[in-house]
Amino acid sequence: MYDPVRVRRDFPALDQNVNGKPLVYLDNAATSQKPRAVLDVLDAYYKRDNANVHRGIHQLSQRATVAYEAARSKVAGWIHAPDESEVIWTRGTTEAINLVAIAWGLDNLSEGDEILISVLEHHSNIIPWQILAARTKATLRYLEIDDEGRLVLDDLESVLTDRTKMVAISDVSNSLGTINPVKEITRAAHAVGAIVLVDGAQGAVHTRVDVQDLGCDFYAFSGHKLCGPTGIGVLWGRKELLETMSPFQGGGEMIHIVDRDESSWASVPHKFEAGTPNIAGAIGMGAAVDYLSNLGVEHIEAHEKEIMAYAMGRLLEVPDIRIYGPSSLEERSAVISFTLGDAHPHDISTILDMDGVAVRAGHHCAQLVMKHFGVSATARASFYLYTTKEDVDRLVDGLGQVTTIFG
Ligand SMILES: Cc1ncc(COP(=O)(O)O)c(C=O)c1O
Repeated sequence: MYDPVRVRRDFPALDQNVNGKPLVYLDNAATSQKPRAVLDVLDAYYKRDNANVHRGIHQLSQRATVAYEAARSKVAGWIHAPDESEVIWTRGTTEAINLVAIAWGLDNLSEGDEILISVLEHHSNIIPWQILAARTKATLRYLEIDDEGRLVLDDLESVLTDRTKMVAISDVSNSLGTINPVKEITRAAHAVGAIVLVDGAQGAVHTRVDVQDLGCDFYAFSGHKLCGPTGIGVLWGRKELLETMSPFQGGGEMIHIVDRDESSWASVPHKFEAGTPNIAGAIGMGAAVDYLSNLGVEHIEAHEKEIMAYAMGRLLEVPDIRIYGPSSLEERSAVISFTLGDAHPHDISTILDMDGVAVRAGHHCAQLVMKHFGVSATARASFYLYTTKEDVDRLVDGLGQVTTIFG
């Protein structure tokens, strides 16, 4: 049986007191904690195998290269990529989206073309497209959201036209937890010949993703949100598409032959991996994927569903709370954004922190969502594989303190 208390023991950072109380970490949508299995792999890599990849004949370089490429293969398996060479290492979701905006967008968009995103997006899936639209004179269009923070898809067919060249959408919203019907959107986008990028920063974290089943063209996600290290992430792309694209950055590793005036590029994925990569990060992300797979993704999912149902029930008991996002748990991932009476979310977070409870307060890099709901910020509790019902109880108790202080 899945036991979150036992799982928690795998995470050294969770075993500490904050302000004299045992830590309750509910900021998982921002970043997750790291299990010993990942920390040990990083430690072993730097102690034994540290060398640059793909360049050396010597033992250490070979070991580092084997581990680095094995991690690529593990991550390809995590998202069911048909070919591991379609997995490009990036610094994270943000860099992966920027890579597509630059390396695909600059060559493929011009005046009159349209990019479709949504109001629900993280700034990482808005700003690269704004910059691209300004540079190419393409038009940026938005899918709207309703009062429960769900995409309004009634007019999808009319928004998508033969001018639409790129549709970039998150599979799960970081600010509200809304699960978006990306498969349906992808089908509609492909029907007008558009390319589809899925921002999977919150999607590939709680569950295995199947990029072949989704049918998208690009999928971007970050290692640090799925128990892996910071500074590493992935862009998955369809090989035929990646092969037609220009490089993103120039430098070592991404070339085939260099001449004075012209050079040729290495094959995919190395064409997009200029410079010394985050070798330890990639190996750590591979270890994170192994860790989650060994626990059993279906158990993690079931656990998070149970925690969400419990948390929603308990939070709805709190007087004056306003919860944002879909009311149906089926349409929601493990995120609850809320405000409490007139208390500012920063005050909520500060008071909870005094009790050892870590939640995020702010606009969550989703200012368009905040604008939609007429607030400048919310408090956000986000859950993960190690969250327990006791953690949720501590959150609710802490909110009681907020109410006492703010009346
Ligand atoms: C939905 C979404 N997209 C993109 C990002 C950016 O991820 P990163 O900062 O790891 O590049 C995040 C991070 O919170 C996110 O939640």
